[in-house]
Amino acid sequence: VCWLTPEQTAGKQKPYLYTQGQAVLNRSFFPGFDTPAVKCTYSATVKVPEGFTAVMSATTWEKEKDNTFIFKMSQPIPSYLIALAVGDIVSAEVGPRSRVWAEPCLIEAAKKEYDGVIEEFLAVGEKLFGPYVWGRYDILFMPPSFPFGGMENPCITFVTPCLLAGDRSLVDVIIHEISHSWFGNLVTNATWGEFWLNEGFTMYAQRRISTEVYGSAYTCLEAATGRALLRQHMDNTGEDHPLNKLRVIIEPGLWGVNPDDTYNETPYEKGYCFVSYLAHLVGDQSKFDAFLQAYVNQFKFQSITADDALEFFLEYFPELKKKGVDSLPGFEFDRWLNTPGWPPYLPDLSPGEQLMKPADELAELWATDSLNVEAIEAVDISAWKTYQLVYFLDQILQKSPLPEGNVERLSKMYPKISKAQNAELRLRWCQIVLKNNHESEFSKVKDFLCSQGKQKYTLPIYRAMWSGSESARALAMETFSATAPQLHVNVQNYVKKILGLE
Ligand code: BES
Ligand code: ZN
Repeated sequence: VCWLTPEQTAGKQKPYLYTQGQAVLNRSFFPGFDTPAVKCTYSATVKVPEGFTAVMSATTWEKEKDNTFIFKMSQPIPSYLIALAVGDIVSAEVGPRSRVWAEPCLIEAAKKEYDGVIEEFLAVGEKLFGPYVWGRYDILFMPPSFPFGGMENPCITFVTPCLLAGDRSLVDVIIHEISHSWFGNLVTNATWGEFWLNEGFTMYAQRRISTEVYGSAYTCLEAATGRALLRQHMDNTGEDHPLNKLRVIIEPGLWGVNPDDTYNETPYEKGYCFVSYLAHLVGDQSKFDAFLQAYVNQFKFQSITADDALEFFLEYFPELKKKGVDSLPGFEFDRWLNTPGWPPYLPDLSPGEQLMKPADELAELWATDSLNVEAIEAVDISAWKTYQLVYFLDQILQKSPLPEGNVERLSKMYPKISKAQNAELRLRWCQIVLKNNHESEFSKVKDFLCSQGKQKYTLPIYRAMWSGSESARALAMETFSATAPQLHVNVQNYVKKILGLE
């Protein structure tokens, strides 16, 4: 349970409380069977001080006298999806079954970001995967130290305030959390060792919804940035690392492995590749969509293993089973699950090429010793979407360190990038600044880490600082002593590990 002081909130007036259950933190919130294998309904009575509002991941909410809130979740859920937040929070309607919740100083921005868009995602999700069973879909904007982009608490997703980019450019996180309404929240991984069942299917569902709403070019571009994250992760850890399998061994018991410590890109992006491979075996998108809907219907309100899922796949497509698709050399289901390393099958992202090619070419130009300024200036990036810029920066990062002086010129040429407020752009810019040891912009790294505490932003930046120059390491120490108390305890511990403080 995270207790925040007023200074740790956006408004800085009142304290704030929130819980984050996934993966195994709810055992310090209430007694219960804190395993995703067990599902139950729940109810809660929460009394808060005057001037505070409580919200929970529940299907019915009532406010009684004495600031007492009564919550009931009428559908069975695993313990990690029980969530509570209490603070100075207000709400605004953004759709027929959706509100945004935030501190008063953020509510206008929250409403503007998502007014009128949520319902379309829900409707497309229902068309693809079957009924939305949770009643409402609300979004709570958390204080800046919230460690995740989003957390799919049923009925009310918790998200980082970094999503308030002003241009809806980070909406893929919302589509992702909505997709968990079917994959994860209805059909749940029975053990954290098979977390890819939650996240891999959800990445696939997210990109199906995104394709329907925004088209395949944009969606493939977003998927390419996901693939780049997987590449970076496997480069950092080595492909053979035991965590780079879909099925992870998590030893139970008092001195066993904490599932949170196994968190990485593999269940997301290798999981996405595996589900895409299953779709590729089927060969027809509408048939595979129908399978996903049947899968949800078959296993809803249950917790399952990968074997359950794959057995159902083979039963659903008996002609594939007859062909023995589970044991094609190099693509064995067993290999997908139990062998670490790069996915044996990658979905075709070429529909995104029209958006990626200009970014690839521009990155190439910036990586040369004597810059071809004319060619660079001929490329107009003013109309590029956020994910096109993200993709471009990932290419620059891959080619870094750039020849002396190039990063400085790049920074001057594109203030849209080097002075960006968008968190995905800031993350990449910080990584580039560090990989090139571009000391004159080190202060931006500290500013970014002081402004938010998302784990997926914080850890890569500390890793980059720690493997950088002496001054980068000093920056890491200085920044951590300034921000440590604001960070979620898990994130604090991971940073300590990176900095050798443990
Ligand atoms: N369920 C996860 C967040 C999570 C995972 C919390 C494991 C605790 C333990 C959530 O759905 C998620 O994956 N969020 C991503 C969003 C992204 C993949 C679009 C995030 O926070 O970055
Ligand atoms: Zn997720």
